[in-house]
Amino acid sequence: MPAQIIDGKALAESVRAALRARVAALAARGVRPGLAAILAGADPASRVYVRNKVRACEDTGLHSEVHEFPEPVSEGELLQRIAKLNADPRIHGVLVQLPLPGELDANRVLAAIAPAKDADGFHAESLGALVQGRPGFVPGTPAGVMALLEHAGVPLAGRHAVIVGRSTIVGKPAALLLLQKDATVTICHSKTPDLAAVTRQADILVAAVGRAKLVTAGMVKPGACVIDVGINRGADGKLAGDVDFEAVKEIAGWITPVPGGVGPMTVAMLLVNTVKAAEQTLG
Ligand code: GUN
Repeated sequence: MPAQIIDGKALAESVRAALRARVAALAARGVRPGLAAILAGADPASRVYVRNKVRACEDTGLHSEVHEFPEPVSEGELLQRIAKLNADPRIHGVLVQLPLPGELDANRVLAAIAPAKDADGFHAESLGALVQGRPGFVPGTPAGVMALLEHAGVPLAGRHAVIVGRSTIVGKPAALLLLQKDATVTICHSKTPDLAAVTRQADILVAAVGRAKLVTAGMVKPGACVIDVGINRGADGKLAGDVDFEAVKEIAGWITPVPGGVGPMTVAMLLVNTVKAAEQTLG
């Protein structure tokens, strides 16, 4: 039986519908949540992602602004702007679109964001809270993955979750969130020998490497839940995930498509964090 396709676009829309009610409640108290995105350099994919975030803000009733820094841009310029945004009462969330160009040190730039405005959850304080199991801002992509799993009713406790990819913004936080739900977690990466032997053991397989169609049908246990975080543009200009969707959907129990799976959830969870930050200013 082919897999159940988990519709991230529909779930993101229902998350945003729930947010509109919270935005209206904030408006009644004189607060409009505001998100500022810092876009440094001219990476075309980053430009598209930031545009999608701005559109999602508009659609959900949030204020948004984009702060563009064409190259060459110095760390000092970014830190100065972040300090201004930290102090701006109209702004509740500040994000720095990654990757940063050139030699800029992302961790130093992210550290300048006020933890109370860390809508992306990439600040060391937010990531530390996640490790320690304290409440805090959770990065949008892994938060979106967890929301998709919960929505689809995928059992997690005692199951083996295998994550391919060890990034700080997806792989590592996804592992922590799955651990919180009592999954047994394995993280694989480019130095893992015999990747397929590990992925075939997965009840939940999260692909987050950025290599088109890396996960093939032979790497998936029948009935597993396959979550595709990859967004890759093929030579034909079409978007492709990290999973060979057409083949794997015949084997898996659940699967997320690209586009329309994790991507819209990443943006929805960013808005959730921004609204939460705005609510927290009211105590
Ligand atoms: N680069 C890739 N994904 C993300 C994201 O979710 N947020 C930011 N700021 N940069 C990214």
